[in-house]
Amino acid sequence: MTEVWILGGAGRSGRAIAAELRERDIRPVLVGRDAGRLAGVAEGDRVVVATSVDELAAEIGRQRPAVVVNTVGPFSRTAAPLVRACLPVGDYLDLANDLATVSATLRLSEAAAAAGRTVVTGAGFGVTATESVVVKLCEGRPAAEHVRVDTVPSLALAAGAVGEALASTILDGFLGVEGGGRPRGRRYRGGRLVPTRLAGEAFPLTLPDGSTVTTVSMPIGELVAAQRASGAPDVVAAFSELPSSSVVRAVLPLAASVLAIGPVRGFATRRLAAVRMRARPRPREHSWGHAVVRWADGTRCEGWLRVGEAQAFTGAVPAEVVRRLLAGDGRPGAYTPAALFGASLAQACGGEYSVVGAV
Ligand SMILES: NC(=O)c1ccc[n+]([C@@H]2O[C@H](COP(=O)([O-])OP(=O)(O)OC[C@H]3O[C@@H](n4cnc5c(N)ncnc54)[C@H](OP(=O)(O)O)[C@@H]3O)[C@@H](O)[C@H]2O)c1
Repeated sequence: MTEVWILGGAGRSGRAIAAELRERDIRPVLVGRDAGRLAGVAEGDRVVVATSVDELAAEIGRQRPAVVVNTVGPFSRTAAPLVRACLPVGDYLDLANDLATVSATLRLSEAAAAAGRTVVTGAGFGVTATESVVVKLCEGRPAAEHVRVDTVPSLALAAGAVGEALASTILDGFLGVEGGGRPRGRRYRGGRLVPTRLAGEAFPLTLPDGSTVTTVSMPIGELVAAQRASGAPDVVAAFSELPSSSVVRAVLPLAASVLAIGPVRGFATRRLAAVRMRARPRPREHSWGHAVVRWADGTRCEGWLRVGEAQAFTGAVPAEVVRRLLAGDGRPGAYTPAALFGASLAQACGGEYSVVGAV
């Protein structure tokens, strides 16, 4: 069986990935909870209905697709059981970008290697954009000393509800840290992952197009990907899509500690899922991955990856990873995308690098 399954095939990311696969002459199988919704976007492709993670895992075991693309968040709940379901039958990739899930999935590398399968986590704009810049800057260099990465997506929003997947990803996965408990920030210091203030380390960043954004540190998967790509003991990962006014930054840690209470988090997730988003054009023409890398000899390099709308890139990266896996270019083990396919993966997805160079 050489089928490529998209779990959550009727969702925003699922539809974008399906379109990019079709452009690469790969016909996906769309998998989701609602036959009607799937049929509405299938464009003649096969659909499979499965209404829970257990059912998804059972169908994977029964029908044995060659590659599974998981877009069903929160990945903190779906990644582990779905990787387990895939290992006996085929390769797996997902769009996780919370630190806890990306780290946990990377720890399955030995199991993936033993099964002869490739597992790729973080195959969306988040993780891939900044990881690719770090890989590019660190090519052929010794381990770095300090790295800061900034993820600056430009996202167009369609009108509609936020939805369960995104709401629980934000409140359960994205703000969560491994082992549960109170959401906190994370960074690497002295080679160790240490707690830090959530939404701290604010930095006003001037983008190559001249506009400015403020990025704040978050426990995102970009952190572990940047650490592994650079070997640096000190790493900070920051993100621009959080309202970064000083008032919001001051209130966030307080809100986060309230969210540690299970029922409050469940209630907040349901409320957020139902919130209707207004259509919004993308705030700027490009999305950016940014990294500044410093080495022990004082060399400092800054690099940017420029892509278009972030969701479009999140469609292209998994499709390109799938194409390469089907071509036999994968390797057994668990990886983030640029760790597996190098800095050229982002270029194959429309990204362009600019490196400010050693300064
Ligand atoms: N790494 C990145 O840069 C990046 C970028 C974009 C998105 N993401 C993440 O990707 C995830 C999906 O985002 P999205 O915007 O595509 O969300 P979405 O539009 O809500 O789509 C999610 C899909 O998952 C399906 N689903 C949810 N729970 C399910 C379950 N229990 N069993 C089977 N199917 C289920 C939904 O099915 P129904 O159609 O039946 O509702 C829907 O089709 C989120 O977690 C988001 O944070 C990451």
